[in-house]
Amino acid sequence: MGFDEIVGQSRAKKFLINSLKKNRVGHAYLFVGPEGTGKMLTARTFAMGLNCSANTAVKPCDRCLSCKRIQKGIYPDIKIIEPQGSSIRIEQIRELQREAVTRPYEGRKKVFIIDQGDKMTVEAGNCLLKTFEEPPEYVVIIILTINENMILPTLLSRAQIVTFDPLPLGEIEKYLYDRLKGSDDHIKLYAAFSEGSIGRALQIAESDEFTELREEIIKLIQKVSSCSMKDVFKISEALQKKDMDMNNLLDFFLYWYRDVLITKTDSSFAGIVNYDKKQELFDESRILDYYSLLTILKTIQDTQKALQAQANKALTLDVMLMEIKGVYENVHGSRGKI
Ligand SMILES: Nc1ncnc2c1ncn2[C@@H]1O[C@H](COP(=O)(O)OP(=O)(O)O)[C@@H](O)[C@H]1O
Ligand SMILES: [Mg+2]
Ligand SMILES: [Zn+2]
Repeated sequence: MGFDEIVGQSRAKKFLINSLKKNRVGHAYLFVGPEGTGKMLTARTFAMGLNCSANTAVKPCDRCLSCKRIQKGIYPDIKIIEPQGSSIRIEQIRELQREAVTRPYEGRKKVFIIDQGDKMTVEAGNCLLKTFEEPPEYVVIIILTINENMILPTLLSRAQIVTFDPLPLGEIEKYLYDRLKGSDDHIKLYAAFSEGSIGRALQIAESDEFTELREEIIKLIQKVSSCSMKDVFKISEALQKKDMDMNNLLDFFLYWYRDVLITKTDSSFAGIVNYDKKQELFDESRILDYYSLLTILKTIQDTQKALQAQANKALTLDVMLMEIKGVYENVHGSRGKI
């Protein structure tokens, strides 16, 4: 579990490796970035580096007794604080403070990692401020959060901020190839819907919920081609009932029609996301010509942009489906059948 195992996040890694090398370590860090992009993994690796007992230039060594024990999660000087229920309460911070009073048992630093720091209550945050103001020299606190604006400004101003980015699609695919050996087919699908988060990709890979949701949405997408213009509203309603983030919902559309386009261009299906829908994609590729497909893809992308600008969701989805429907009507019309 060295820094090598962390995918991407080169800026964060460089900064932390450097501060370990130069022995310039602060008392408070804020790791900011989307869920599942490696904040906890990096915090634990950094904590390991801080307490690694090897005499190597690059820490952690991943081999010494300290490193081994940290990996197993049985090291007394590294503590992880997580929300209990929906929040991190003041009692949890008081407990942290009681522990912070005594010197490390084994290592050089006592490291406290606070996951989902934005879930700290105001009281908890204010309580933590005391430790931030006068930290014992051996204490390092790392707060993880998806949004720095949800952390008390007084804490924020005393912490070093380390930013984590969404991971590139290619990096996520590569990670999944190494991890989920033997099931190559699924990987593009998981990566496509991961939103740049390895954590989310892993969740999707394990969840029946995603599989079911995807089947339902693809069925609804396919209905647009053959339904009446009136039924478009029913489809829109059914999609809205899924209560999903609209951008994620539209990704299903985008990847579906992108796959149809690939299928039309390349009969080997190379690079498609919906690997298990080859027949359906092929059928669809026979109905739509290139121009129609590009029109549909552009409509979906425009809709995603409109939604970023806070357009009315229900109306925007209605309009998009009607536009897609319109493309099918044109195609059918030009062939003389409705
Ligand atoms: N950049 C990354 N490199 C390697 N593994 C990662 C990365 N990001 C996430 N993971 C893996 O995904 C899961 C969730 O990661 P985690 O570090 O808890 O994310 P976060 O703290 O940002 O929510 C873990 O199994 C972790 O190993
Ligand atoms: Mg997390
Ligand atoms: Zn070590």
